Amino acid sequence: MIGAMASSFRDDAKGEARPDQAERGSQEGARDGARERAREGVRGSAPDTAGGRAGGGARDGAGEGARRAAGDGARPGGPRPAVAALPPYVPGARPDPGQRLWKLSSNENPYPPLPSVLEAVARAAESLNRYPDMYATDVAAALAAHAGVDASCLVVGNGSVAVLAHLLSAYVEAGRGDEVVFAWRSFEAYPIAVDIAGGRQVRVPLLPDGRHDLPAMLAAITPRTRMVLVCSPNNPTGPTVARREFEAFLAAVPPHVLVVFDEAYLEFVAEPTAWSPAGPTPEPRAPARGEADEADCDEAVGGLPATLARRPNLVILRTLSKAYGLAGLRVGYCVAVPEVAAAVRAVATPFGVTGVSQEAALASLAAPAQEELWARVSALIAERERVTGALREQGWSLPDTQANFVWFPLGEAAAEAAAEARAAGILVRPFAGEGIRVSIGEPEAGDALLNLAARWRRTPPRPGTIEA
Ligand SMILES: Cc1ncc(COP(=O)(O)O)c(C=O)c1O
Repeated sequence: MIGAMASSFRDDAKGEARPDQAERGSQEGARDGARERAREGVRGSAPDTAGGRAGGGARDGAGEGARRAAGDGARPGGPRPAVAALPPYVPGARPDPGQRLWKLSSNENPYPPLPSVLEAVARAAESLNRYPDMYATDVAAALAAHAGVDASCLVVGNGSVAVLAHLLSAYVEAGRGDEVVFAWRSFEAYPIAVDIAGGRQVRVPLLPDGRHDLPAMLAAITPRTRMVLVCSPNNPTGPTVARREFEAFLAAVPPHVLVVFDEAYLEFVAEPTAWSPAGPTPEPRAPARGEADEADCDEAVGGLPATLARRPNLVILRTLSKAYGLAGLRVGYCVAVPEVAAAVRAVATPFGVTGVSQEAALASLAAPAQEELWARVSALIAERERVTGALREQGWSLPDTQANFVWFPLGEAAAEAAAEARAAGILVRPFAGEGIRVSIGEPEAGDALLNLAARWRRTPPRPGTIEA
């Protein structure tokens, strides 16, 4: 059974360390007619010189203003130039109606919702006429208890991508040259979120094996840096950030710089050397997770409260979209010291997390659901190990993924590979000129991927045969 389709995001920029806006290009998503029209509309109405930035109103004469007042259909002024320049933010590929394809394009959980979660959703739907609890108080308390922190440290939002947007909006001042450092390629929402907040992107290329280059990220920090985003496991390449390396990084980052540690795929990590603030075996713990020597884990000793006490500039970002399978209900959260959490709460969309989502989250965090969920996470980890092991046997040398996806760095053949995958019944996520990301799903989907990958060993996808 293929799970619900979640949105995913992309942009076409090449990775390099520069405080810059994202480059744009056209890929799979850019061909979407409706979005393209919407983008044209944005471009068409946006002034293209600094002098014109006051928007349509600055060009209006009194007559124009009067015509508008009369409501004769005159167009409103353009949006901020940063909005006109945003790279596209599009949903992942989805099957056409009636088509049976394995949807491995958005890193979703392939399992259907738990019966206890569906019951909670149905119950909550009876109160749809009411606003939800503004701060998702019960969910925040349950998540705080899981993380071992006070509820004042926790903010729940409409997906972790919204929480990240709120963090940026609270800490990045538009037009001041505030910089946000992140690895590239990483989660495609980062450049978009930074641009929307009015920050300046500073992209630091990943190492050839798909890991973060933390020394280079440290070197990219300047007096203008407000925030550093670290994604572990990294989307789309898959490796985690190692404990020793991240501890050295945290110790060296100036205290005024927020370090946002995005752990969207935390629960799939089986490698004991990965850094996580909850210690070598982060909570909630997947049964398959490996053990590590506690003594080898200075920052993690004492769990999250001790880590935050030592590093008050650290923010942990997590989601219920992946391991918890709630992508369609949009629940994410951050854990931070109370003053940072309060700033995020202050800028958050009021009533941003629906009552249905809150009840589903609570049902997912209840003890019986936890057991079922961790059994599923264990099965997905086992499936990942099966698929990656078989790929290695086929001769592939891929980044060491600890997430629920695999990265094929196919370079210029990415678009052709995605088209061939679709023809073979699999939807994947192409990144033009770089590679494809394939989610771990049902074992049958894994088999289909392995057949395709074996074929590619014999006949690699040929770049240039379709328009990227
Ligand atoms: C690294 C990373 N962070 C955050 C998110 C967003 O998750 P959410 O569904 O909670 O907005 C994703 C989703 O793909 C992701 O890959």
